[in-house]
This record gives sequence, structure tokens and C-alpha cells, in this order.
Amino acid sequence: MKKDFKEILVTEQEIKEICERLGKEISRDYADKKLLLVSVLKGGVVFMADLMRNITCNCMIDFLSVSSYSGVKTTGHVAFKKDLDINPEGCDILIVEDILDSGITLTYLKKVLMDRNANSIKVCTFLDKPTNHKVEIEADYVGKVVPDEFVVGYGLDYNEKYRNLPFVAVLAPEVYS
Ligand code: IMP
Ligand code: MG
Repeated sequence: MKKDFKEILVTEQEIKEICERLGKEISRDYADKKLLLVSVLKGGVVFMADLMRNITCNCMIDFLSVSSYSGVKTTGHVAFKKDLDINPEGCDILIVEDILDSGITLTYLKKVLMDRNANSIKVCTFLDKPTNHKVEIEADYVGKVVPDEFVVGYGLDYNEKYRNLPFVAVLAPEVYS
């Protein structure tokens, strides 16, 4: 499987440090709030599991699922596949995402959740590809800024493969061309 990757972009050690740093910041910022962590399936689930164990204030967790990707290309269209179980009214929502790429998914999610009378909505993304944003959006918490390359591992997939890798790697172009 090693030959499927061009390079390793985020090591296991770096992932640990990122989760500790963000966990500390979030614990401080949400100490007196009603924190609801919302993970976006499936990519955000590995980061969510690590991040929440570094959060020391009270929090609830929930999951939702949208789809916008087919292979390595965004379709530009976002579909809701699974909604929240918890009513987010009055909650301080923190959306936990694997990667902020075009920003279309997060813009859509923020808009939908805003209409549910949450107290606040912020975004925590493990990776950010700022050069690829297609809409005006900024995450409130960013794990690591990465170049505009297709990456896999630590929850991120290519056609449902590689999510189980404990690190993040750049996919070799031969794999998808
Ligand atoms: P968006 O383009 O910001 O809407 O990205 C939506 C979703 O596409 C992300 O949450 C990821 O699940 C997926 N995605 C974007 N870039 C990559 C990548 O480099 N590798 C794997 N998945 C990606
Ligand atoms: Mg995602």
C-alpha cells in the first residue's frame, strides 16, 4: 500500500500534538457553554474520537452525514444523508470536519444548522486547503494547513479506501488517473 502515496503529510505524532492543542483551546473557549460537537460522517469521525478525548469541559456529541464527493472531484452539490439526533436549539455547535476544501459543504451545513436556533456555530477542521476555497469561509479552529493535493488517511478516503491509516498521506496520482 506504501506505493499508493507520494508522501506522508501529517505523522501520528503530529496528529497527537494537533489534537492536544485544539482540545485545550476548545476546553477553554467552551468552559461555560453548552457544547455540542457535530462530526461530519464519515471522514470526520477519526478526528472527532481523538479531539473529544482532549476536551475537558462538558460536551455532547452527534453525527450527521452529507455527500458531495465522487472520486477526487467535488460535485458542487451537497446532499443531506443523515440528520442530527439531538435537537441543537440553544446549543453551542462545533462542527468537526476532516478537511475544509472548497468550503461548499461547511457553508451549507452552517446555513442549515443556523436555522435550528443554535446559540452559536463554529467550525473545527483537522485540515484546511485555503488555496482551494471556492466560497468565503474560515474555520475557527484549524489543525493543519495543507497544499491543494488529494490526501487520504485518518478518516479521509479515496473511494472509501485508506480511512484506517493512522497518518495523512498525499495520494499518488497514478492511483486515481
Ligand atoms: P468541500 O469541498 O470543502 O465541500 O469538502 C467536502 C468534503 O470532501 C470533505 O469534508 C472531505 O470529506 C472531502 N474531501 C475534500 N478534499 C479531500 C481530500 O483531499 N481527500 C479526501 N477527501 C477530501
Ligand atoms: Mg468531510
